[in-house]
Amino acid sequence: MKRSNLIRLLIIMAAILPLVATVMVSGVGKEETALYKLNVPRGLDADYGKWIPADNQLTAAKIDLGKKLYFDPRLSADGTVSCASCHDPEKGFADDEPFSKGIKGQKGGRNAPTTLNRLHSAAQFWDGRAKSLEEQALGPVQNPVEMGNTVSSMIASVNKIAGYRPLFKAAFGSEEITSERVAKAIAAFERTLLSGNSPYDHFQAGEAEALPEPARRGMVVFMGKGNCHECHSLPNFTDEAYHNLGIGMDKPNPDLGRFNVTKNEKDKGAFKTPTLRQVTETAPYLHDGSVKTLEEVVELYNKGGVPNPYLDEKMKPLGLTAEEQADLVAFLKSLSGEVPQIEPPALPD
Ligand code: HEC
Ligand code: HEC
Repeated sequence: MKRSNLIRLLIIMAAILPLVATVMVSGVGKEETALYKLNVPRGLDADYGKWIPADNQLTAAKIDLGKKLYFDPRLSADGTVSCASCHDPEKGFADDEPFSKGIKGQKGGRNAPTTLNRLHSAAQFWDGRAKSLEEQALGPVQNPVEMGNTVSSMIASVNKIAGYRPLFKAAFGSEEITSERVAKAIAAFERTLLSGNSPYDHFQAGEAEALPEPARRGMVVFMGKGNCHECHSLPNFTDEAYHNLGIGMDKPNPDLGRFNVTKNEKDKGAFKTPTLRQVTETAPYLHDGSVKTLEEVVELYNKGGVPNPYLDEKMKPLGLTAEEQADLVAFLKSLSGEVPQIEPPALPD
């Protein structure tokens, strides 16, 4: 090689070396793309692909980021409240108070539902006003009595935490922190929160002894005389539809639930059927957290709900004996199974 050519080559190499180095260090195109395989417990829909939005596939990096965001109180206006404050893994991913405390000890007017098994769902909230988990996730951030923040100030706070940047890069391919990415990561994490493999599921799989006699009799009431399965349908013991049981309808200014979203007269006082999986851990019950025990819930159904002009037509006095009611409670208790053991993660600085 001629000397001048060699020099030219050296100059070119010197010019591109830093470029190659930056590409390697910054890891352009390092978005994790390998799909995360969900470990769906017995009883849920193992063919879960249809429940995952095409534009928010599950990856380990996204789930890991979503878990940190779920537990991070810095998403709230004063840094005190996270999603886990009200959807606590120690409390069935719900809260043990009728109304949860948001920032500055404020309370709303509805009971925090569990974030378990939302994989098998589309619309979120008791009234279904959010169309997806992604859409739901930014709701509490902006709710004045929950996290009391604005989306832009939440993004600004997350941007100040340098440790989040590599996590966004791993999950989404670049360090950019946007509300859409925050919502997607949280939703991806929530889809991994599954409850199944309960005594009932073992019974269904052919292990007769998994379900004690009272629970077995209760199952017959649930599927028959009690008519519970009509709304609490398999696999997640919910039809994800809205019904008026009359809860709170005897109050002066009742929460009109689904009506607030649809403005359809018939939706007045209708709320989304909650899952019954892990129901032993999610007391107090109903959208207003007004009932403390499963025994009292069953009593309420036995009376046919609370009379009001919009009562769901499936609600009728049931005429259950005391034993049938106790059996029904035993069955409800058999719907608690395995849940993921989620520890609060170390949060990035
Ligand atoms: C201060 C308590 C509080 C905080 C903080 C909170 N939530 Fe909630 N969450 C609630 C209540 C109450 C509801 C029901 C509200 C309604 O239906 O109008 C709810 C509803 C939900 C639902 C709908 C569940 C269903 O069955 O429809 C999901 C999912 C959820 N929250 C996830 C989150 C996430 C993610 C965060 C954090 C970004 C969060 N929540 C923060 C109290 C809270
Ligand atoms: C017409 C539909 C329907 C029928 C039938 C029905 N449920 Fe429900 N269930 C609901 C809805 C809707 C709610 C929430 C209502 C509310 O909060 O206003 C609910 C709430 C519950 C809850 C409280 C769960 C929680 O996390 O708050 C339990 C427990 C329950 N039902 C058990 C039963 C049992 C047992 C039966 C049969 C005796 C039954 N349900 C029949 C629709 C129904």
